[in-house]
Amino acid sequence: MKRLRMAVIGAGQIAKVTHLPNFREMDQAEVVGICDVNLDAAKALAEQFGIQNFYQDHKKMLSELKPDAVTICVPNKFHCRMTLDALECGCHVLCEKPPAITVREAWQMEEEARKRNLVLSYGFHFRHSEHVALMKEKVRNGEFGTIYHAKAQWHRRRGIPGWGNFTNKEMQGGGPLIDIGAHMLDAALYLLEYPEITYVCATSSDRIGKRGGCSLMGSWNPDCFQVEDGVFGFLRFENGTSLLIETSFAINQKEKDLRNITLYGEKLGASLFPLEVYGEKDGQLTDSTYPFMEMRDWHMDSDKNFVNACLGQEELLVTAAQGTYVQKVIEALYKSADSGRPVIME
Ligand SMILES: NC(=O)c1ccc[n+]([C@@H]2O[C@H](COP(=O)([O-])OP(=O)(O)OC[C@H]3O[C@@H](n4cnc5c(N)ncnc54)[C@H](O)[C@@H]3O)[C@@H](O)[C@H]2O)c1
Repeated sequence: MKRLRMAVIGAGQIAKVTHLPNFREMDQAEVVGICDVNLDAAKALAEQFGIQNFYQDHKKMLSELKPDAVTICVPNKFHCRMTLDALECGCHVLCEKPPAITVREAWQMEEEARKRNLVLSYGFHFRHSEHVALMKEKVRNGEFGTIYHAKAQWHRRRGIPGWGNFTNKEMQGGGPLIDIGAHMLDAALYLLEYPEITYVCATSSDRIGKRGGCSLMGSWNPDCFQVEDGVFGFLRFENGTSLLIETSFAINQKEKDLRNITLYGEKLGASLFPLEVYGEKDGQLTDSTYPFMEMRDWHMDSDKNFVNACLGQEELLVTAAQGTYVQKVIEALYKSADSGRPVIME
């Protein structure tokens, strides 16, 4: 069996807690090199995961090791440049989410992968959840009828990360929308089957982030808080469906962490986390729950899908074009929130 020779760029949290442990468990993949501007970080993970080569410069790693595929785990600002560098070296790429900072970058990445006939995917692992998979099946089977409205939410009561680059606009491109909201947006748009967008409008706030206060995810410095702490948006699609997206790092709500996707169809409605389906049968209103559903490891399934797609053994679930679509929505939501006007999509 051919094994995919992989390299990892970025030896931070996501590489350490998800991708490297996952790849280590896969017979069909082998990590041959890791790179980080912080050479000590690359060395530490190389030792921990038994990776033979570690580097400080990703271009040197790509040219010396010539891996089949690369996983990009660096701050968002570098996603585009590093993805292009890897594609130009003939590597398939799994880039962490969000695809990039701008839609122009995401488009460039998609084009380059298409031109070179290489796999490009993004770390939108919620798509691999058992809940989303079952709902997708029901949507495809027409069980909802027309879905005329949906809601995607990820709110944290006080979840402004006190580490890393999450409040640095230049590095990340934004706050909760581009970081956590992107996951819910991606999964909701996947369920809605990417309809053409007519217009987008949004508001945002940075009031709590800039003021400071209690924290549940490490303490942050309000003087260095450069991103939004919440975005509240509305999308209208050409088929008449609408989608609300709400996301925050900090908001005055009851729950510590509230993430959900809700679908409203003419025949059924559904709430995803936890999975419940609402309908009507035999003259009665019905609620269906799925208490014994087998839980999957979403990150693992996402990594396996990428590896198997590179080996030509599985269809890729998260495509580059879908990543560009999500990036387009994120950019439009920010533009509308900043300008105070709806953004009409072309
Ligand atoms: N899919 C998910 O649920 C999920 C979860 C967390 C993070 N992420 C994404 O993963 C990416 C990294 O996040 P993280 O939490 O691991 O961050 P992190 O800060 O822990 O790690 C980033 C690493 O990149 C390194 N780096 C920075 N510039 C570099 C360069 N030019 N060359 C090589 N290395 C460089 C840093 O030194 C650091 O070690 C982000 O895009 C983030 O959005 C995704």
